[in-house]
Amino acid sequence: MESILGRIHRKIYENKLSRKIHGAFRRSIDGRFDRQYGVDTAGRIPVKHLRSRDNLPESSWGYMATPPGEFDRLIHALPIQTRDYHFIDIGSGKARTTFMAAMYDFRSVTGIEVSRALYDVSLRNAMIMREHGVMKCEPELLNMDALEYDLPKGPLLLYAYNPFKRKAMERFAGQVAEAYATSPRHIVLACRIPDRYAVGVRVLEDHPMFKEIVLSASLPKYIRVFEIAETPSRHDA
Ligand SMILES: C[S@@+](CC[C@H](N)C(=O)[O-])C[C@H]1O[C@@H](n2cnc3c(N)ncnc32)[C@H](O)[C@@H]1O
Repeated sequence: MESILGRIHRKIYENKLSRKIHGAFRRSIDGRFDRQYGVDTAGRIPVKHLRSRDNLPESSWGYMATPPGEFDRLIHALPIQTRDYHFIDIGSGKARTTFMAAMYDFRSVTGIEVSRALYDVSLRNAMIMREHGVMKCEPELLNMDALEYDLPKGPLLLYAYNPFKRKAMERFAGQVAEAYATSPRHIVLACRIPDRYAVGVRVLEDHPMFKEIVLSASLPKYIRVFEIAETPSRHDA
């Protein structure tokens, strides 16, 4: 019979092994877009590495890209007509998600990235993506603090994969609400925020103007979608 010590040992080994398998699996999925298009969007860059090269705001988190399959499921689950909406990637990094959005028929596609180093990579990627001819529009890539950006008029789909901490999220939510008050239209804010950073989402849960849209169960629970205003059917583009 296996000893208690043996069992503990086995559990630790199994966990390590499953973590390794999980890591390898995640890296393989993360690299799929790059293998397909010959770009550089994969990898995880902790914020302290970005800080060592860039003068980033205190409020920023690091870089990691959205998995393509998940992004496609999100877009299909949203109750919007993509052609009516401006897509804005809040913290676009190396711009994988911005490119994926440009493969849909959005009215316009913009990626905003505060890190100069990541922005430079995104520009190189954009040249390669253009050559593939798979994007339906030319995405605009901006190197700036998303909190300084003036949101365009017209219906918006804002996508935020964990760009910033709670205080900045509060400011951002305030700016989105103000943009709505100045020019009422349907605004959707789709967030990919892992549980350990969930305070950012609580800002939206507690905000009087944001209402959560509950999407199909096939999306991970850390994808949360909020909207301001009426449903698109009551709004003209
Ligand atoms: C987790 S990555 C997401 C990248 C991309 N949106 C995606 O889904 O693949 C978050 C990005 O937000 C950027 N970021 C953080 N604070 C920002 C700010 N205030 N303005 C613009 N970008 C910011 C980070 O540098 C990082 O590249």
